[in-house]
Amino acid sequence: MTSLCLYPNKERLTLGIAQMIVNGREKGEKMAGSAWEKRTRYCGTLSKKDVGNRVVLNGWVHRRRDHGGVVFIDLRDVSGLVQVVFNPEVSPEAHAKAGELRSEYVVSCAGEVRLRPEDSINPKLSTGEIEVVADRISIISASLTPPFEIVDGIKVDEALRLKYRYLDIRRTEVREALLLRAKATSEIRRFLEGKGFVEIETPLLTKSTPEGARDFVVPSRLQPGRFYALPQSPQLFKQLLMVAGIDRYYQIARCFRDEDLRADRQPEFTQVDLEMSFVCPEDVMGITEELLIHVCQEVFGIEPIQPFPRLPYRECVERYGTDSPDLRMGMPIIDFTEVFGSTELRVFRKALEEGGRVRGLKVEGLRRPSRRELDMMVEEAIRLGAGGLVWAVKEGDALKSPVAKFLTREECEGLVGRSGLEEGEVLLLAAGQDEATSTVLDGLRRWCAERYDSREQGFRFVWVTDFPLFEWDEEERRYKSHHHPFTSPSPECIRVLEKMPLEVTSQSYDIILNGVEIGGGSIRIHDPALQERVFSLLGISRQEAENKFGFLLEALKFGAPPHGGIALGLDRLIMLLVGRESIREVIAFPKTQSGSDPLTGAPDHLYPEQLRELRLRTF
Ligand code: AMO
Repeated sequence: MTSLCLYPNKERLTLGIAQMIVNGREKGEKMAGSAWEKRTRYCGTLSKKDVGNRVVLNGWVHRRRDHGGVVFIDLRDVSGLVQVVFNPEVSPEAHAKAGELRSEYVVSCAGEVRLRPEDSINPKLSTGEIEVVADRISIISASLTPPFEIVDGIKVDEALRLKYRYLDIRRTEVREALLLRAKATSEIRRFLEGKGFVEIETPLLTKSTPEGARDFVVPSRLQPGRFYALPQSPQLFKQLLMVAGIDRYYQIARCFRDEDLRADRQPEFTQVDLEMSFVCPEDVMGITEELLIHVCQEVFGIEPIQPFPRLPYRECVERYGTDSPDLRMGMPIIDFTEVFGSTELRVFRKALEEGGRVRGLKVEGLRRPSRRELDMMVEEAIRLGAGGLVWAVKEGDALKSPVAKFLTREECEGLVGRSGLEEGEVLLLAAGQDEATSTVLDGLRRWCAERYDSREQGFRFVWVTDFPLFEWDEEERRYKSHHHPFTSPSPECIRVLEKMPLEVTSQSYDIILNGVEIGGGSIRIHDPALQERVFSLLGISRQEAENKFGFLLEALKFGAPPHGGIALGLDRLIMLLVGRESIREVIAFPKTQSGSDPLTGAPDHLYPEQLRELRLRTF
């Protein structure tokens, strides 16, 4: 186990805890009615400065070694670990007791801090220059043999880690992520309160909120047959708080969404939720940007590239094929449609005749690829849903490609000219409808950057703005909100709302970090008449609007200020800042991909009496 020092401000974080608790006590106190002494110091805080001092330590046996009669243990607590030595010549009783120790036993021991002999200094450990020579030890709790080793970097099935999450959290890399998360949350609160935001809790037992996922529902015993919904976000309540004159609201809010899970999705997750009155998008984006920079600097010692660039949605999708672009990589998408105006290549011609385009990208970080390498790109494109992928490699004045014989000289020149393709470089081309080729090219861009290691280091935030207000749902044959139905159209589009719904942009913004959407928000509709027009375009009847959101429509009629806000996905933000691959790594007790908790066994069946009481029947 290494010391807790991955981040510059971390020492402060753990030291803070350590000093606070043991302050003012020099000697270990005996706990009434038991044999163990309370600690005077935390293990990981000891250093050369303590040499000659007596200390009492409490913690877990991380490892025990028996070296020719002398027993060594690494003793671990929340601050790190220190070596404790039991020598029969110092204390035969303590030495005998140390012989009984096993991994993960909880002990209290006392002794003197001394310098380690030169040849046993451990430079990898923050306490590696010293050790504690113990003359007393008591075993507080025994432990079964843990199902996995309590060390970093283990390769263990995640379900097993989650079943024994309390053991998993004993590992430095897991505990460290939770401590940093706590520190970040506390800095977020401090920052927002400094800006006049007031933290207000909103209900968890509530009515359905429209964020587009399925609700988790809770049956009401007092009103049989009726159900609460757990909030997908505090959206409607924060708007009501603006009508209530709160002006600047925030909440570290739990949200619940019943949707298919992925590495960056959990059924319950946490948002840093904000709402402000009398604001325009600039105000919300400005304060969010300041907040993110503050957290990066204060908690993680990271300097993000500033100012955060802004990309209107259409430009963003055209350039990167996605609304969550990763700006650490180049490889923008290039439109080659014009190059193939009179192409002989059947797949391209067909795509163009059907109103599609030919787009592509130049792979960075790769020259003169092998055939196998190129085949892998084609396989990846097919995995991403493409019918096929055309590659071309520049070789002298010609292009090497499986379709080379169908390419005219002008087409080859057009491809090289538009992409700036150099000797040995690869061009990838996808033809078809934008929606399909965007997915493929976005995926290939990410795949190539990962495989050829062409991503910059660091943290690249980007704002994506001006999303369409609506999108067309072909399956249901109706318009849907791109964000949620309370998002305000851009003022200049309100006139043409009904005439050209798909052209209408909204006053919305998403914030993306390294290709992951970490937040989204908008200016809201505060005019009840406009809100009703939007509901009507969404195919929500007056009656349905009244049933679902009547309370909001009514509130808007009592003097609603212009308002807007944003919600940041706290789990995703922390996952990226601590460099983990899944949000489960930064949540104390997460659910598995199938939504279950291997530790508690949730979700579980109800007893028949409970079902009867709730007037529920299961099928
Ligand atoms: P939205 O639905 O975009 O907006 O959510 C905001 C942010 O929450 C995070 N997020 C999730 N994180 C983990 N697991 C999930 N299942 C999950 N779903 C969303 C994402 C996302 O960007 N009420 C609006 C905000 C507003 O308009 O103010 C809302 O909830 O990082």
